[in-house]
Amino acid sequence: MAGRLLAVSDLHVGYAENRAVVDGLRPGSDEDWLIVAGDVAERFADVRATLALLRDRFATVVWAPGNHELWTLPNDPVALRGEARYRELVAMCRELGVLTPEDDYPVWTGSGGPVTVAPLFVLYDYSFHAPGTTTKAESLRRAYDVGVVCTDEMLLHPDPYPSRDAWCAARLRSTERRLAAVDPAYPTVLVNHFSLVREPTLVLRHPEFAQWCGTVGTADWHRRFRATAVVYGHLHIPRTTWHDGVRFEEVSLGYPREWRRRGAPAVPRVVLPAPVPDPR
Ligand SMILES: [Fe+2]
Ligand SMILES: [Fe+2]
Repeated sequence: MAGRLLAVSDLHVGYAENRAVVDGLRPGSDEDWLIVAGDVAERFADVRATLALLRDRFATVVWAPGNHELWTLPNDPVALRGEARYRELVAMCRELGVLTPEDDYPVWTGSGGPVTVAPLFVLYDYSFHAPGTTTKAESLRRAYDVGVVCTDEMLLHPDPYPSRDAWCAARLRSTERRLAAVDPAYPTVLVNHFSLVREPTLVLRHPEFAQWCGTVGTADWHRRFRATAVVYGHLHIPRTTWHDGVRFEEVSLGYPREWRRRGAPAVPRVVLPAPVPDPR
């Protein structure tokens, strides 16, 4: 079988059932690449062990961080917070030979290529406001009022930035600069834990949660940076949607209770070669 560009996210290997799914993740050929779009685990050692296992199996592994990798749990021997934790994750990936948002963007030359695969880390900034609110403060207040508050508020520390949205602003600036410098000869596959556009969050059961799911600062990146596909996760709602003619793939595994409800885990998903478009 010819090589394929595959993707998965939200492996959450703290769950034994999910570890079993990861154990079954195998390439279909020696040329397959695997994109891992964040939320591998919370504990540093679990992230490392999982990426090491996948790196042994796939020709290339490309990782972008999720919010869970950036949590600092009280019982994790790696107690780093914020930017320092992210940098340590990047260093660990480099040791394993896993590509990160800090490395040169690789070019997929297999089936459906050539395309530049760009793993991104831009976080969120609360700008996907809760319904009926227009500022971060109002939006957050609404979330606390209705009791829908992301655990990131307690565990994802933005150090040395004053806030998660300030960290996001810095990441937006540096990431935009890098994407603008990519050779325009090829289309791109943009990989980010959070959706680059807001629309996929409109189906959330609790709309107040959307403020932890992205930023309006990336709303036109799929058009500006020539995306042939955008790969994301975080929502735990695996599906394909189209925005401005660009295919968006939510590639999450999710928690066992979520994927069991759907019957079986639908991972990994094929990014390239492009599946035949839905004829409807
Ligand atoms: Fe997740
Ligand atoms: Fe997430």
